[in-house]
Amino acid sequence: MDLLRGTGLRKKFISKDKEILAVNDISFTLHENEFLAIVGESGSGKSSLLRLIAGLERADEGHLFYRDEEYTSKKCGYAGKFLQMVFQDAYSSFDPKMKVVESIKECNSAECEAELKRLLEAALLDEALLYKRPRELSGGECQRMSIVRALNSGADILLCDEITSALDVSTQAQIVKAFKELREKRDFAAIFVSHDIALMGMLCENIMVMKDGVCVEEGETKAVIENPRDEYTKLLIENARKQSL
Ligand SMILES: Nc1ncnc2c1ncn2[C@@H]1O[C@H](COP(=O)(O)OP(=O)(O)O)[C@@H](O)[C@H]1O
Ligand SMILES: [Mg+2]
Repeated sequence: MDLLRGTGLRKKFISKDKEILAVNDISFTLHENEFLAIVGESGSGKSSLLRLIAGLERADEGHLFYRDEEYTSKKCGYAGKFLQMVFQDAYSSFDPKMKVVESIKECNSAECEAELKRLLEAALLDEALLYKRPRELSGGECQRMSIVRALNSGADILLCDEITSALDVSTQAQIVKAFKELREKRDFAAIFVSHDIALMGMLCENIMVMKDGVCVEEGETKAVIENPRDEYTKLLIENARKQSL
């Protein structure tokens, strides 16, 4: 059984009397424990697609399934029970006035506490950080904490939108390391939206390349990066190489 599936998803926006097809017939499958990257330049429709999947916005066309059950909500609402979003601005996941622990803790049982402890350890976070306010955490710590919060809620899918874009390179590496540790400890799948194809290569086994709302190439990340078929994918890889020089 597939964990998450989308078929024929479409979303259009009207802006200044012009129609924009932000998501134009996208289909995808996410398997249990899979990390899938969606890459593309700014404006290619990545965030729009993620918002459709999360149920934050309603698709004009297409269907979404969680474990073969359709949830393409007529009413539209955050599908927060089985999936959680993680955003670029990690501080926005926490109430600025409360201690971090108050936004994270699900229950007080010994079992819940042990699970939270396990997640913190895997995310390379000191337990003492729970008793600070979000702004007392560094950007990297807060982002790792928001990943812990999402997993601690019991969700088995994380939707991550440019979660490393506001962080420097060494802090990005810590996030990658934390995800590797977390995967060892806990079963979950994730979709990462990013413009950074090189970073996605370190994190995700599968990749989809988006341009102007359309999927131009998809496959195993390693194969796509080593042997891109699409001209646009080649350009993204070329640009990433130039940036790392
Ligand atoms: N709420 C909206 N209203 C009008 N246009 C939008 C809206 N959201 C996104 N768009 C347009 O849809 C396209 C895709 O945007 P987005 O999904 O944010 O791309 P990405 O995340 O890849 O940068 C862009 O042209 C953007 O301007
Ligand atoms: Mg975006």
